[in-house]
Amino acid sequence: MGLYDRYILPHLIDMGCGTKPIGKQRQKVVPRAQGRVLEIGMGSGLNLPFYEPERVEMVFGLEPSEGMRRRAQPRVEQAPFPVEWLELPGEQIPLEDASVDTVVLTYTLCTIADAPAALAQMRRVLKPSGRLLFTEHGLAPDPEVSKWQRRINPAWRLMAGGCNLDRDIPAALREAGFVIEELETMYLPSTPRFAGFQYWGLAVPKRPSRNKPIGSASRRPASKARIRWHTPCISRIRNAAGGDGSAPRRSVYFGTDA
Ligand SMILES: C[S@@+](CC[C@H](N)C(=O)[O-])C[C@H]1O[C@@H](n2cnc3c(N)ncnc32)[C@H](O)[C@@H]1O
Repeated sequence: MGLYDRYILPHLIDMGCGTKPIGKQRQKVVPRAQGRVLEIGMGSGLNLPFYEPERVEMVFGLEPSEGMRRRAQPRVEQAPFPVEWLELPGEQIPLEDASVDTVVLTYTLCTIADAPAALAQMRRVLKPSGRLLFTEHGLAPDPEVSKWQRRINPAWRLMAGGCNLDRDIPAALREAGFVIEELETMYLPSTPRFAGFQYWGLAVPKRPSRNKPIGSASRRPASKARIRWHTPCISRIRNAAGGDGSAPRRSVYFGTDA
């Protein structure tokens, strides 16, 4: 690991992820965490002040970067609940099966090298009754924006510590065997659109089906599988069943699993 990754990148990530609009996104999901919590890619610990201490038994802070852990340490020491570092990547979560109540995933899925493997690990360690809370940026639904996301991505990834602009977050969750119970989207204010399309919500482990192995042939036929999903500014689905009736501005097809 070079000087840039050890010292400069943690500082840039702390600043970039510490903006007010991103803080508002954290506020929407992190306070819902409860019990034994696993935070994936805890970074500089920016989520720690957003937990509700009376709901949280402890937080495992999984973070492979030593520079990020060092940056987080003052926030870890101030946390009013125990925080235990797991110094490994999300692809190798060193916890027992079905041992955590909440997985918190904020602005990390974009960066994980093998996202499907890491999501499979998250699903493994979540209790069947557990919940995955997420707020992530990713692939925008507007072709003009997604075109630029794909063009810029190779250079962006190099500069931004492996961050990808164009990941389809809901598709990745579903492919990994999660059912998305709540999902909202919008472009983050005061942020370039190519880096600002937000997905946030709540997912739960899909119950294993006797016939279909998770993550392989779990898709429904296209006619049933597609959600007519209205964006932006905010669209919401509950139980991925097709919207809460909020007025559409424009329809896009998105999402592949109900
Ligand atoms: C953009 S930062 C976000 C940090 C934090 N989650 C937040 O919301 O501020 C992405 C984090 O993911 C971490 N990361 C990179 N690869 C990872 C992996 N394979 N598994 C888990 N975390 C990873 C990075 O070290 C970095 O701390």
